[in-house]
Amino acid sequence: MLKKASSPALNVGKATKHDSADRHVRGNALYIDDIREPRGTLHLAPGYARESCGKIKSLDLEVVRSAPGVVAVLTAADIPGLNDCSPSFGGDPILADDRIEFHGQVIFAVVAQSHIEARKAAKLARIEIVAETPMVTAEDGMARDASVLPTYEFNRGTPAETIKASPLSISDSFRIGGQEHFYLEGQVSLAIPQDQGEILVHTSTQHPTEIQHLIAKMLKIRDAAVVCECRRMGGAFGGKESQAAQWACLAALATHITGRPAKMRLDRDDDMIMTGKRHDFRCDWQAGFDEKGKISAVEVDFLARCGCSADLSLGVNDRTMFHADNSYYYPENRITSHRIKTNTVSNTAFRGFGGPQGMVFSERMMDAIAIKLGLDPLDVRRTNFYGGSGRDITPFGMKVEDNILEELVGELEQTSDYRKRRQEIAAFNAKSPFLKKGLALNPLKFGISFTLKHLNQAGALVHVYTDGSVQVNHGGTEMGQGLYTKVAQVVAEEFGIDLENVQITATTTDKVPNTAPTAASSGTDLNGMAAKLAAETIKIRLIDLAARLYQIEKSAVSFANNHVQIGQQKITFAELTQQAFLQRVSLSSTGYYATPNITWDRDSKSGRPFLYFAYGAACAEVTIDTSTGEMVIDRVDILHDVGKSLNPALDIGQIEGGFVQGMGWLTTEELVYDDQGRLRTHAPSTYKIPTASDLPEDFRVKLWDSPGNREDTIYRSKAVGEPPVMLATAVFSAITNAIASLKPGVLPQLSTPATPENILAAVKLMKSGD
Ligand code: MTE
Ligand code: MOS
Repeated sequence: MLKKASSPALNVGKATKHDSADRHVRGNALYIDDIREPRGTLHLAPGYARESCGKIKSLDLEVVRSAPGVVAVLTAADIPGLNDCSPSFGGDPILADDRIEFHGQVIFAVVAQSHIEARKAAKLARIEIVAETPMVTAEDGMARDASVLPTYEFNRGTPAETIKASPLSISDSFRIGGQEHFYLEGQVSLAIPQDQGEILVHTSTQHPTEIQHLIAKMLKIRDAAVVCECRRMGGAFGGKESQAAQWACLAALATHITGRPAKMRLDRDDDMIMTGKRHDFRCDWQAGFDEKGKISAVEVDFLARCGCSADLSLGVNDRTMFHADNSYYYPENRITSHRIKTNTVSNTAFRGFGGPQGMVFSERMMDAIAIKLGLDPLDVRRTNFYGGSGRDITPFGMKVEDNILEELVGELEQTSDYRKRRQEIAAFNAKSPFLKKGLALNPLKFGISFTLKHLNQAGALVHVYTDGSVQVNHGGTEMGQGLYTKVAQVVAEEFGIDLENVQITATTTDKVPNTAPTAASSGTDLNGMAAKLAAETIKIRLIDLAARLYQIEKSAVSFANNHVQIGQQKITFAELTQQAFLQRVSLSSTGYYATPNITWDRDSKSGRPFLYFAYGAACAEVTIDTSTGEMVIDRVDILHDVGKSLNPALDIGQIEGGFVQGMGWLTTEELVYDDQGRLRTHAPSTYKIPTASDLPEDFRVKLWDSPGNREDTIYRSKAVGEPPVMLATAVFSAITNAIASLKPGVLPQLSTPATPENILAAVKLMKSGD
């Protein structure tokens, strides 16, 4: 790599707005459904059965075929190649042919002249299912010993014995709810036939490469004959990592069969019924500790409802285990993850990728210990923080080397006025018969890197044109998080030019191939580095050229303010790029980056799965009404570590958005399945995401004043996409504390989401006196 530029940073570190901010607001940012449809575009709608589970006995599609506008009806028999869109171990048919495993599983797809005709026709099918009793809950699946993947465990010491021998212990069981992604732009794909059977697919996906490969396998054509492109998504949140594939495959299949462009856009209800969500859990745990709340050993069983197939459940549940410690040292532990099969939609990635569920556990445990001992929960948390030597090894054997918990939490404790407010709240609660307040300050430590090692790689392609403008392309996708803006900042910085001179282009598999999904918060870490390397290659060529042309040392060439300083001479960047063309010097380069220093071996459970940890802390104050269960969040203070921020505006946006999404997950968003495994909450009428009015009345977000990531990441920044979701555990803890004020020493029986209904039930249990 080149030495650090001596000129002051032009672009990196600046609070530049999102490149599409204005277009997002004006409504002229182009999403897939806004792309002008080619003439003759057909539209698809999915068809499914009323039952949840059983064998398909008969499928009568005659009425569907003869419905107005219908051009074709696709079934499994129409698929020339592999009928599976699984991202991992199979079990996700594109069109079910033999059995259905959940309510909403697609059996056929109607291809019609219009979207509405396709939807109307899809309802006319006569499907007979030999229904079986579905496994709906994790307990149902456990009872039948059904799993999508083997149980996996981290074990250190003999925790069961140690807990027994500890002065104090607690055992508890509670539930952690799932979450619907509720991206504003639903799943959508547009397939367009090209020359010679090639297909171009515009698709709203975090993983264009995987969709390219799945379509090729499905159609029995080569990967090289499929191009997947995505300019932006209207939100994804993990819900378009694997879940975009089925709809892209179906659009491509329709194009393959009809020879015409075809678009598949899911209606909101279908989207909610047919696509996977955040895994919900039952969590059974026990812990041993002393009078100060210091933990000696922990045993926890995570029972995950994975749904009907493996999908991404391996990585998600592993990450739950990797974060069951959050910021705390467990001298001995058994962390066991059961990946249970149920006849519900296959659960999938969701911001935090299982990590949030692990941390909800650790935070409930901290609250439980503090309540039992009558100690301040922050003191109990702190007592258990990772610390110096001997207390710095995680349950998976990785040493925590970049620990800033004490400093960061200490600062937030001061700036949020935690101690004083705890006292004020205790005084308030003593006097207030119905309204009760709670205050909690929770830490966060989140591992950055894909735990599947090979995904930690990225490619980029940078072109410089002779007018001095630059195009950047990379394997990362834009879902609102600002990745494109950050990578463009990096490239502009490298060439010392204004951000306006860097043209952002859509992610497409024919420019940068074989990419990882944009996930695990590592989009900027990976693609920013790849783009920097591509730009550096061109810059080195330009420096060589300038040195040669002007007969000067290479070290005397530098780039800043859209100019190039060449010894005493100063020319514009554009002038040098024109010279490069005339002198036959290439102005285009790829860049490639693979994350160093990660070594996780899943079988031996050893190594270093994460390059580094991101840290943060949140302090939340809530008021609950013990007569109705209503809850308001009065104030939230957040201090979050992004290393050296590439863009403080985007980072704060991610922190605010992530926190609010986490808050929705833990308080209002409730997925309700009936006893047949049918999702009853499949529209905004019954599923409540946070709105502007749910924001904390007083919301203070600050970036931790960091000297920079100790690892050599892009400009020493840290990933920010997912971690802030987990700051919202402070809201759950604050609610727990508010309820606990009703009866000292008693742990409220509260699961997530802490909806008014659930808060009220927990309050009633406290009052009923056991
Ligand atoms: N922010 C917005 N606005 N929209 C999204 O869909 N997805 C989150 C996070 N922030 C998301 C978002 C998830 S799940 C991940 S993994 C990261 O962004 C992915 O992008 P990054 O790696 O560039 O941070
Ligand atoms: Mo994010 S859940 O890793 O897509």
